Amino acid sequence: PGERRLAGRHIVVTAGPTHEPIDTVRYIANRSSGRQGFAIARALAAQGARVTLVAGPVALATPAGVARIDVETALQMRDAVNAAMPADCAVMVAAVADWRSADPATNKLKKDIGAPDLTLVANPDILAELAVHPNRPQLLIGFAAETDRVVEHAVAKRQRKQADWIVANDVSGDVMGGEENAVHLVTPEGVETWARARKDAIARRLADRIADALG
Ligand code: C5P
Repeated sequence: PGERRLAGRHIVVTAGPTHEPIDTVRYIANRSSGRQGFAIARALAAQGARVTLVAGPVALATPAGVARIDVETALQMRDAVNAAMPADCAVMVAAVADWRSADPATNKLKKDIGAPDLTLVANPDILAELAVHPNRPQLLIGFAAETDRVVEHAVAKRQRKQADWIVANDVSGDVMGGEENAVHLVTPEGVETWARARKDAIARRLADRIADALG
């Protein structure tokens, strides 16, 4: 109690959605309040870590002692994450949009010209890229929001993205945007099912585990 177990550590956290412009007023995005990521940033800072929080567009206050970098798009988020390296640990909580418009309009598209033909291109996978980055953090943690076969998908995701841990988020219920979360922690040693809890309690528990792992 009162111990700052992450003093001297630098940890990068991504949080929130990304917004991918279609034109100057419309965008593509995933649903994400940013609450779990912000809670994790707060819990890590409370343990004494130097925290860089790369945040997509969300309406949340910056946790005390956290250095926040606001971004809009996945490409900006990738640049901000890379610029924040090196780090001892990265916790990638952001719900990054999988696609962006290949050619966003630089004005507002007029409705009367009909529905636009959008060409979408894939965004980079920031987590998977960081896993093979020359400055790869010692402990790389991804999130996986799933509605079915949650653990099975998370185990596969851990291997595919070469993350160390995946926090598998069961979003089949009402956790989206809410105060609570239901997660499983997938590590090389196996799968732990954590009791459903408030997002700040999940964040503190994860911060403790990160401190254990970084030693
Ligand atoms: O593949 P999926 O989107 O389910 O993977 C989720 C994990 O990957 C999260 O940790 C998320 O932050 C990260 N991710 C990413 N860049 C993307 C897509 C997902 O960093 N373009």
